[in-house]
Amino acid sequence: MLRIENLVKVYKDVRALDRLNLEVKPGQVYGFLGPNGAGKSTTILSLLGLVFPQEGRIELLGEEVFQNGRFDEGKLVKAKARIGYMPEHATLWEFLTPMQTLDVIGEAFGIPKTERGKRAKELLQLVNLWEVRDKKVGKFSKGMRQRLLLAQALINDPDLLILDEPMTGLDPKGIAEFKEIIREQRKAGKTVFFSSHILAHVEEVCDTVGVIVKGKLRVEGNLDNIKREFLRKAGYTIVLETNKPVDFSGTEWNVTPLGEAKYRIVAPKDVREEVHDFVASQGVKILAMQVKEPSLEEIFLKMVE
Ligand SMILES: Nc1ncnc2c1ncn2[C@@H]1O[C@H](COP(=O)(O)OP(=O)(O)OP(=O)(O)O)[C@@H](O)[C@H]1O
Ligand SMILES: [Mg+2]
Repeated sequence: MLRIENLVKVYKDVRALDRLNLEVKPGQVYGFLGPNGAGKSTTILSLLGLVFPQEGRIELLGEEVFQNGRFDEGKLVKAKARIGYMPEHATLWEFLTPMQTLDVIGEAFGIPKTERGKRAKELLQLVNLWEVRDKKVGKFSKGMRQRLLLAQALINDPDLLILDEPMTGLDPKGIAEFKEIIREQRKAGKTVFFSSHILAHVEEVCDTVGVIVKGKLRVEGNLDNIKREFLRKAGYTIVLETNKPVDFSGTEWNVTPLGEAKYRIVAPKDVREEVHDFVASQGVKILAMQVKEPSLEEIFLKMVE
């Protein structure tokens, strides 16, 4: 659906993309995560031929749109006809209503007048703006604006949706609504690629996450796998309290005493059962056992550090 190979983009003295590799498969909802300035927008703009990378290869919907330092305009136009794009800093016409907005956009896409009204209705219902279809956009909240921008991006019934920070600035309710719409898009068979610098935006909605840091993809995969992999490296931490001291010599765990009969145990995996048996074998009772798992946010921060 979308493949980027060794993409390099240098702006004057900034190496914004440093041999970036990334792949989005059909039907995926891919969360493109990275801190500010990591190169997310540069990646997206490159995909659409809106900035010119120096090296690498881009394949969009089966078309090789960029190679040998140049875009193939014909292939790019062909691919883009099947793409919906929501830019990071989009503006809406404040004095138009959602119906009028979609009519203008639909006209620009060459959709006949008779079909435009029908399409606008479908889209406004989809993004929950049908009730305010005749209100001026100028009075809309951030969440309403973002949903209208998404409706715009869907006007050509695209197979691939590319959204640059679509949830930034939304409150938790706005985020939940937006995620629900994305889930519906997935059900309708669309592929979604969206960027964010906030982990919570990709949670529960993306099946795959790629983390970009300084123009390079650092990690890619399913969020649970990323978490497991991180835990394997960082280690599971268990805090154990017992009714009397335990002799941990001979175990492979990294044990630090925290008190008379209180310990911190770090192991490469979840060893709660083993700890339980080990302690019991010394006739000691467990008073409390707690696993300290880092939150996803902590993992993300560690990754981008
Ligand atoms: N037109 C430009 N000219 C010069 N440098 C640029 C330009 N656009 C982006 N950069 C630089 O390239 C790097 C990547 O920027 P980019 O906007 O792609 O990051 P981003 O991940 O989208 O960040 P954000 O989360 O802030 O949107 C940054 O260091 C940025 O300052
Ligand atoms: Mg950006």
